[in-house]
Amino acid sequence: TQMRMLPLKDKAQVGLWSARYIAERINQFAPTAERPFVLGLPTGGTPLATYKELIKLYQQGEVSFAHVITFNMDEYVGLSADHPQSYHRFMFDNFFNHIDIPKENINILDGTAADLQAECAAYEARIKAVGGIKLFFGGVGSDGHIAFNEPASSLSSRTRIKTLTQETLIDNARFFDDDINQVPKMALTVGVGTLLDAEEILILATGHNKALAVQAAVEGSVNHLWTVSALQLHARGIIVCDEPATMEL
Ligand code: GLP
Repeated sequence: TQMRMLPLKDKAQVGLWSARYIAERINQFAPTAERPFVLGLPTGGTPLATYKELIKLYQQGEVSFAHVITFNMDEYVGLSADHPQSYHRFMFDNFFNHIDIPKENINILDGTAADLQAECAAYEARIKAVGGIKLFFGGVGSDGHIAFNEPASSLSSRTRIKTLTQETLIDNARFFDDDINQVPKMALTVGVGTLLDAEEILILATGHNKALAVQAAVEGSVNHLWTVSALQLHARGIIVCDEPATMEL
């Protein structure tokens, strides 16, 4: 097999399809306490529709997260777990508080750790300890980054501290009162290598501002300047797009 691309009509379809896909994967695996399903998760505007649908599926009894272990992709350096714009808060507000996942199954990088490098190394060790990630679900930045693997990240990179690009700071200022100065300049992120180690990768791209990233991912060569293109190296990578995101293809 190889990387696949699935073009859908709009954001809502992408949310619906991806939520059903994730639920189906969990159900097929039939996780138990001894054999949990390990799921990688993103933040951002794009996955919100997916989280909403997954919550619905949970409420309808179609999926349970009781035996799912999650690892989030990234977290800002310097924001505490309860900061309104931290990825911790985002995940609890938009997903974890609404499903049956046990708190101890949730893993998110701590951007306030005293030793950030040790925090990153411990995260990699925890992923290994639970047998690796089954399905890594993610979005893509307008500059083609996956997780916070900004342009020029090594394609074999592991979890580490990353300085954010100006483009990412501008993109994410919308979550910080449109004030770029409030956006943290650094983040902890899983590496491209960490992502590629997952058994399967599912990337969503919606909106016209992702069209160049989708073009680079699908038509470009594997390239450290558009880290999403690393998906081409993965046997089970899927990019799900809405129509506006395919406009440069
Ligand atoms: C952030 C996150 C990424 C995410 C990207 C796109 O920078 N670190 O994991 O994929 O932004 O975000 P959005 O979905 O809001 O466009």
